[in-house]
Amino acid sequence: MAKTPPVNDWKTDYDIFDPGYVRDPLPVWNELREGCPIAHTDRWGGSWLPTRYEDMQAFVRMVPELSSKEPLVVPPQELDPDSEHAEVAAPPITSDPPTQIPIRRMILPFFTPKAVALHRPDTEALCHGLIDEFIDKGSCDGAVQYAQQIPPRVIANMMGIDPNRSADFVEWVRGILEIGLTDPEIRLKYRSIILNFFSDLVQERRQNPGDDLISQLIACELEGEPVTDRTVIGMCNLLLIAGIDTTWSSIGSAIWHLAGSPDDRSRLVNEPDLFPTAIEELLRFYSPVTMARVCQKDIEVGDVTFKEGDRVLMNFPAANHDPAAFDRADEVVLDREKNRHIAFGVGIHRCAGSNLARMEMDVALRVWMERIPEFELSDPDAVTWAGGQVRGPRNIPIRF
Ligand code: HEM
Repeated sequence: MAKTPPVNDWKTDYDIFDPGYVRDPLPVWNELREGCPIAHTDRWGGSWLPTRYEDMQAFVRMVPELSSKEPLVVPPQELDPDSEHAEVAAPPITSDPPTQIPIRRMILPFFTPKAVALHRPDTEALCHGLIDEFIDKGSCDGAVQYAQQIPPRVIANMMGIDPNRSADFVEWVRGILEIGLTDPEIRLKYRSIILNFFSDLVQERRQNPGDDLISQLIACELEGEPVTDRTVIGMCNLLLIAGIDTTWSSIGSAIWHLAGSPDDRSRLVNEPDLFPTAIEELLRFYSPVTMARVCQKDIEVGDVTFKEGDRVLMNFPAANHDPAAFDRADEVVLDREKNRHIAFGVGIHRCAGSNLARMEMDVALRVWMERIPEFELSDPDAVTWAGGQVRGPRNIPIRF
């Protein structure tokens, strides 16, 4: 990633890629929330950074004034208008109503709790298989060898694509959301790879439909018309991108947390009924996803004015640490009863895959705690974090 000058004033010049901020953004959010709840920067194409829960709840409802057409936190580069993929977006996350509504409706039935439960046994077997590979060594990288391996295989199975290509999928998705976020050439390269991959698959499934998600999407109607290939390719693009880094980050953050917290580890071992509330709390505390909106007109919010064309970051992670919305906001409280977190967003774009993400986290953490109840970081300085659009640990050296 390109090096940028250090931040002197977070209120007017924040840097979402500052290494210290990526590692631990809480001190910055707390300072901003007190003194400048909506900060601004000219870095990375310019943006606004809200930090209050109440503001986030209001901003997600400002539709269509705050548009989702460009939800990346760094503005995307111009696409070659002649490229075959120039008009392929990632609906519904890149669309506003009215287009967004029927596309979202098309996706939701595949991600109900009942639909997702069908994938639980395979996910359990997958997690056990991953642990079998390193348990005898007494050490592993909890991000690379465990958390990162789960979501690409689960979504590949759902989509009927080869789960053994999971390393490719991770590389492609990081090429868009992580490494390519600040490098337009890399981002375009991986966008092309993903869209070509799904373009071929959609052709193939039209010829030979199966019972997988892609074949079922192809068979759907959108507002009374057969769905177009371009829309299906865009949706597949989104499902791959939205399902991998996000869930990997949440599982990884949870493992990183537990490695450093013997009390929380022993609570989960001794009180397994705590898993559901513990998972919500870990989702809240380590919320990975920040999205962007682009203003369609000038909007006054308190003493700041968002100008038409300005980018506003939907800082769900900071909102989840607002003491006005959560008691002991900066503590992990595994049995937190009242937890209206917005890690999955809120409003019309709320995560369509949240049931799947929760199932994956639940299985990943239960299997890990059953097999490896005692563990710790072997080299805390070797832990690495990614941030920007999706924040989470990318290396977690662990011994047990
Ligand atoms: C812990 C893991 C996850 C987190 C924290 C997360 C978070 C989010 C957030 C914050 C949004 C809202 C975007 C916005 O307001 O612009 C979103 C949307 C979405 N997510 Fe997730 N997500 C996760 C996992 C998944 C998975 C596993 C899938 C499916 C494979 C998925 C599919 C989607 C889709 C399709 C949307 C777009 C919904 C719409 O625009 O109507 N997500 N997610």
